[in-house]
Amino acid sequence: MELSVDARAFPKIETEALVTYVFEGEKFTGGLLAELDAATGGALSKLAASGELTGKMLETTLLYYPQGLAAQRLLVLGAGKKDKFGTAELRRLAAASVRMLKSRQVKSVAFLARESERSAAAAEAITEGLILANFDSDKYKTEKKSTSEIASAALAGWDAASRADADQGLARGRVIAESQNFARELGNEPSNRLTPRMLADRAAAMAREAGLAVDVLDEKRIADLKMGALLSVAQGSAEPPRMMIITYTPEKLNPAAPVLGLVGKAITFDTGGISIKPANDMEKMKYDMCGGAAMIGTMRALAALKPSCKVIAVVPSSENMPGGRAQKPGDVQFSMAGKSIEVINTDAEGRLILADGIAYAKQLGCTHLIDAATLTGAVVVALSNVNIGVFGNDQAFTDQLLASSKVAGEKMWPLPVDDDYREMIKSGIADIQNVGTGKGGGATVAAMFLKEFAGDTPWIHLDIAGTAWQDDVKPWNAKGATGVGVRTLVDLAMKFGSNGASAK
Ligand code: BES
Ligand code: ZN
Ligand code: ZN
Repeated sequence: MELSVDARAFPKIETEALVTYVFEGEKFTGGLLAELDAATGGALSKLAASGELTGKMLETTLLYYPQGLAAQRLLVLGAGKKDKFGTAELRRLAAASVRMLKSRQVKSVAFLARESERSAAAAEAITEGLILANFDSDKYKTEKKSTSEIASAALAGWDAASRADADQGLARGRVIAESQNFARELGNEPSNRLTPRMLADRAAAMAREAGLAVDVLDEKRIADLKMGALLSVAQGSAEPPRMMIITYTPEKLNPAAPVLGLVGKAITFDTGGISIKPANDMEKMKYDMCGGAAMIGTMRALAALKPSCKVIAVVPSSENMPGGRAQKPGDVQFSMAGKSIEVINTDAEGRLILADGIAYAKQLGCTHLIDAATLTGAVVVALSNVNIGVFGNDQAFTDQLLASSKVAGEKMWPLPVDDDYREMIKSGIADIQNVGTGKGGGATVAAMFLKEFAGDTPWIHLDIAGTAWQDDVKPWNAKGATGVGVRTLVDLAMKFGSNGASAK
């Protein structure tokens, strides 16, 4: 999608669709909307009086060849209550306009921001909404739909005073949303088209193009490094594992500065292994690599946005298969960190590969760690597909992340990892076991396991099992992989870079 800022007065903007939004119960008595109402011969106030245009969130009112405008259509979206409106809602409105208009063969749009939304953050949110909504996955359809894409979009409503903000927001929003779409593309790939080796090739190609350093560990180097937990998951598959390391180094590196480590689970298919999953819904387990994809997507964005801290993504990748050499319930494995693990359930494989990912990130010098993983069905029970589950061992660091998640419009909810849960992962014969004894708390038990490997390093775990995949089409988004995490992590890394780590 081609993007630009169009600084012309709105009546002069030639586009297939001019888009704007009204709040609930709004009267068109002043400002931009009064001008729009006047230009269109009172169309808005008449529709409002008739009860058709109410401003309810995501309401759509489409006018064709509106009087007084050079645009072929005017789309007025409901923006909900004004006091509940922020950048998250703005992003969603911009996205909803693209989804609606592209289904009507529209190829060009101009999104008219109102006076209250003339900031770089607003321009960024609009840009992200437009690009994220233009994404569809018809890669494997041999007959492409003609409704494919919006070809060009303009940010409108920006005057001389706010133009620089618009340019800045557009540039940043474009990088972030395209990187999120990159993560979504990977998440949507079927497992036969994205094995650990193929994922590594795609991550490496991205890194080279973006100017990032990349190292891919093959099975031999993984074995040399004694990553026994990752190897134990991979041993049941004919496909060898990979560990990707993508590094961003700022131009002026302060050697004493904190280093952010991003560890992502990338199981390209999770059958459960010998503790095999039921057939129903198993096809979805191709998205069990979305934590890794989020980290790879984040690195893509950071390469362009250049935070002032060093960031290292570590992505362990494997299939989880029940082959003849597969590990069996009760097997004991030694992780890279030296801890022994009794594998009670081979379907709790994500925490195994992350254990070695976390250990390696620490060895590479990361001072702060964030992992993202489609880790547990339990987090879906707790938070459904609405919030990411957040766990951490350092409150200040976790608070930074939660603040970034608000800016990014990615919902997160903190869950506990306190020592009273430690009992549940004690093993009879090894240091720890990979599932909990006792009842419930599955998402916390998984986090407790990871916490053992994070040790004293400030660490945050994001369980994205419920949020990395969307089952149905939303008015603002295609179904499938969501690329969740990318926006929050980019925001955090940029701030982490500029004010150092406030944590610890
Ligand atoms: N990949 C799954 C978790 C998952 C579930 C992701 C649903 C997305 C949607 C993970 O590897 C897994 O199987 N976890 C088990 C752990 C259990 C055996 C302790 C689970 O949650 O059932
Ligand atoms: Zn599993
Ligand atoms: Zn899994």
